[in-house]
Amino acid sequence: MSKETNRRDFLGYSFAAVAAVGGAASLVGMKQVWDPLPSVLAGGFTTVDLTTLKAGEPETFVWRGKPIFVLKKTAEMEQSTRDLHIGEDRFIIAIGLCTHLGCIPAWKKDTWKCACHGGEYNSSAKQTFGPPPRPLDLPPFSVNGTSIVLGEEGPEYKKIAETLKA
Ligand code: FES
Repeated sequence: MSKETNRRDFLGYSFAAVAAVGGAASLVGMKQVWDPLPSVLAGGFTTVDLTTLKAGEPETFVWRGKPIFVLKKTAEMEQSTRDLHIGEDRFIIAIGLCTHLGCIPAWKKDTWKCACHGGEYNSSAKQTFGPPPRPLDLPPFSVNGTSIVLGEEGPEYKKIAETLKA
């Protein structure tokens, strides 16, 4: 009797152990399926080192498949509530898609010009000519020292976004 009980207990424990291991393995497998791929996670944020920019020469970065214009303003360029101040420097950050119909404007001297219908934006990303109905849009960003991280809504972003609503 006691021998039989022990055998039954052993079988019961064995089954429970196999079921537990199988269940844990299934959970690990499911988590791997549910979790975003590393490429998707990395695609959510783009870090831009602002120290590499030359004043008056905007660079285009890619964030979530969109072009992002980052301009380090020269001392002569207009002051704007949209300026991001880092130390002595001022920067303009904008999604590089025309707010008319989405073409990518090109920088010519001191203006972003849209070849599609002639829209223009000044160095503060404000529309100054043609059909664009509003300034270039502001992507979410946070400041980390002398870098910005596109995709995070930091206090500097919120402050500038607030001025654009007014
Ligand atoms: S898409 Fe830029 S002006 Fe029309």
